[in-house]
Amino acid sequence: MKVLAINGSARKGGNTSQLLQNVLDELDNEGIETELIELAGKSVPGCIACYKCFEKKNQRCAVDNDIINEMIEKMRESDGILLGSPTYFADVSASMKGLIERCGMVSRANGDMYKRKVGAAVVAVRRAGASHVFSSLNNFFTIGQMIIVGSSYWNIGIGKDPGDITKDEEGIKTMKDLGHNMAWLLKKIHG
Ligand SMILES: Cc1cc2nc3c(=O)[nH]c(=O)nc-3n(C[C@H](O)[C@H](O)[C@H](O)COP(=O)(O)O)c2cc1C
Repeated sequence: MKVLAINGSARKGGNTSQLLQNVLDELDNEGIETELIELAGKSVPGCIACYKCFEKKNQRCAVDNDIINEMIEKMRESDGILLGSPTYFADVSASMKGLIERCGMVSRANGDMYKRKVGAAVVAVRRAGASHVFSSLNNFFTIGQMIIVGSSYWNIGIGKDPGDITKDEEGIKTMKDLGHNMAWLLKKIHG
């Protein structure tokens, strides 16, 4: 079993990354393989609405000059998917939006490629807007027939500068509980 985490922050190793890593650590402890991919420094433009994915139905984005096709493939191979984003103007980062649009469209064009995989959203925020980001990320899972796993609070961690998040005790506990619940659910599904 494998869980893939994708961090949409422009800052590698920042708060979103650290929150995701806390979830992954719990999964690791439960013997589940994990991988964290950082979108920082990578160009992830949005969908150009060419609809070629619906014509070709080959599980690939027709815009084949960036990391999206690799991400689609990695998601397809994973049993669980974590999407992490910082809060940027009360919404997901532009990179995460690009990933959602293109991986989501290719999935829809190919009969919901991530159907019944387990998904969870993780959000870093300084002050406000995180609930909207959480909802935006969850929209990716729910439209694609995925199963969302919950935690002891909404999956949000509070901090501004990289590392601040470690001081948010409740946020870290939420991530650990999320990892634990995700491992439990994956083991129930894949027995
Ligand atoms: C472009 C930009 C927009 C932001 N907008 C918000 C916002 O709407 N609300 C908020 O509370 N914090 C906002 N922040 C702060 C980040 O969400 C916060 O610093 C977060 O911890 C960053 O996560 P990271 O370390 O993973 O990049 C913004 C930061 C940037 C760079």
